[in-house]
Amino acid sequence: MAGSLKKIVFVFAVCIATCHGAAIGTPSFATKVAKGLRLIETAEGVAPVWMTQQEKLELLRKDKNFFDVTNTYDPAELSVGSLTGGRRPSPKPLAAEVTFDAPSKQAVVTPLLAKVSVENMQLLLGNLTAFYNRFFESETGAAASFWIHDTVADFGDAFPDSELEVFLFEHNFTQTSIIARFPGEDPDGPVTILGAHMDSINLDDVNGRAPGADDDGSGSVNLLEAVRVLAESGFQPKTPVEFHWYAAEEVGLLGSQDIAKTYNDTGVEVKGMLQFDMTAFVKPGSEEVIALMPDFTNGNLTNFVGSLIDTYSTLNFTINNPCGFACSDHASWDKFGYPTALPFEGTFPDNANEIIHSDGDTVDLEGFSWSHTLEYTKLAVAYAIELAA
Ligand SMILES: *[C@@H]1O[C@H](CO)[C@@H](O)[C@H](O)[C@H]1NC(C)=O
Ligand SMILES: *[C@@H]1O[C@H](CO)[C@@H](O)[C@H](O)[C@H]1NC(C)=O
Ligand SMILES: *[C@@H]1O[C@H](CO)[C@@H](O)[C@H](O)[C@H]1NC(C)=O
Ligand SMILES: *[C@@H]1O[C@H](CO)[C@@H](O)[C@H](O)[C@H]1NC(C)=O
Ligand SMILES: *[C@@H]1O[C@H](CO)[C@@H](O)[C@H](O)[C@H]1NC(C)=O
Ligand SMILES: [Zn+2]
Repeated sequence: MAGSLKKIVFVFAVCIATCHGAAIGTPSFATKVAKGLRLIETAEGVAPVWMTQQEKLELLRKDKNFFDVTNTYDPAELSVGSLTGGRRPSPKPLAAEVTFDAPSKQAVVTPLLAKVSVENMQLLLGNLTAFYNRFFESETGAAASFWIHDTVADFGDAFPDSELEVFLFEHNFTQTSIIARFPGEDPDGPVTILGAHMDSINLDDVNGRAPGADDDGSGSVNLLEAVRVLAESGFQPKTPVEFHWYAAEEVGLLGSQDIAKTYNDTGVEVKGMLQFDMTAFVKPGSEEVIALMPDFTNGNLTNFVGSLIDTYSTLNFTINNPCGFACSDHASWDKFGYPTALPFEGTFPDNANEIIHSDGDTVDLEGFSWSHTLEYTKLAVAYAIELAA
């Protein structure tokens, strides 16, 4: 065994010296991608495997979460792996130890919480769910990205004092992600990130109707309304605050992985990444809580978010059951060692909305609660100010 490993290292070293930097196996990686195969990682520390689009959809239908790492994986690493019979992906980097101060900006936060409006959120979600679907490869999925971009741009035009910027983050699929940014006094400082995914999916028929009201229209609208309230207040944080609407979360966290990898590769520091994914459903008969995910998140950031809920929300928080591998976009940031937290709509999985990924994910579903999701918009405003102002 050790012998064969030495030989591989030798062959690889020869290639590095003589092959103009092209790693062994790169052509076959590209060929597989060109054939439409995708590289799928289904568990931590387990080598990814090639799958057809159909096999990938089957995983989704079985509720099995994964990273589609085709666009972010280092092909050189896989080619070595294929020679050794499958090497594990790079171990996750150790997250920096991070600490957070107790909430102290009540004088600024509390007056703004009164400006958060359910009526606005209803209009915004009405617009977002009006797209036939927000599938990552559909024209309506792309149009929904432009609509979010233009909506934020309108906030920036209406309230110029905050210097709110918005841009599209393009991927190599149809849909784009959107980033809204309050640059603040030190635009190169560590970034405070709030995220949600703007795509939706109908797993019965990916070209079918997918309103995605709760998953994740709710989180998307939490962010839009928080941006509006902050912009209207002339928000000028000390360090940058960014709101991300990720494309293609439902098909293996494609958008957020592209962005998290870009931030890591360019050395961007992040104070904390807070993901909003499904914030509107309260299972009839269950206790209404904000449920903080315990896995693939940072304990100190999670405790900090808990203290924000204690300080600013009418709801109590609880620590949730584990969400599992690659369950939402925070996992993309966690993978690169960034601190994350995820406030979910209820305890998982029993009190989570099950009518998702279909034409049934609408605001008319019994249990869809505007007053519940409003609390997450308040949390978003508080988080932005307490971490960055
Ligand atoms: C998408 O981009 C990645 C990274 O640049 C590349 O490896 C992959 O081949 C591209 N996929 C397609 C379908 O173009
Ligand atoms: C959490 O904060 C404590 C100090 O309060 C620190 O010792 C610890 O390293 C932090 N943990 C992480 C994972 O950042
Ligand atoms: C949003 O929806 C409202 C109706 O609720 C409509 O009047 C408006 O034109 C829509 N805005 C956009 C940008 O689609
Ligand atoms: C993050 O960036 C660093 C510095 O460029 C790099 O060494 C490391 O491999 C990157 N991490 C991942 C998981 O790609
Ligand atoms: C929060 O928890 C306290 C103490 O357990 C309880 O009295 C209160 O009713 C809870 N509030 C809500 C909104 O559930
Ligand atoms: Zn979701």
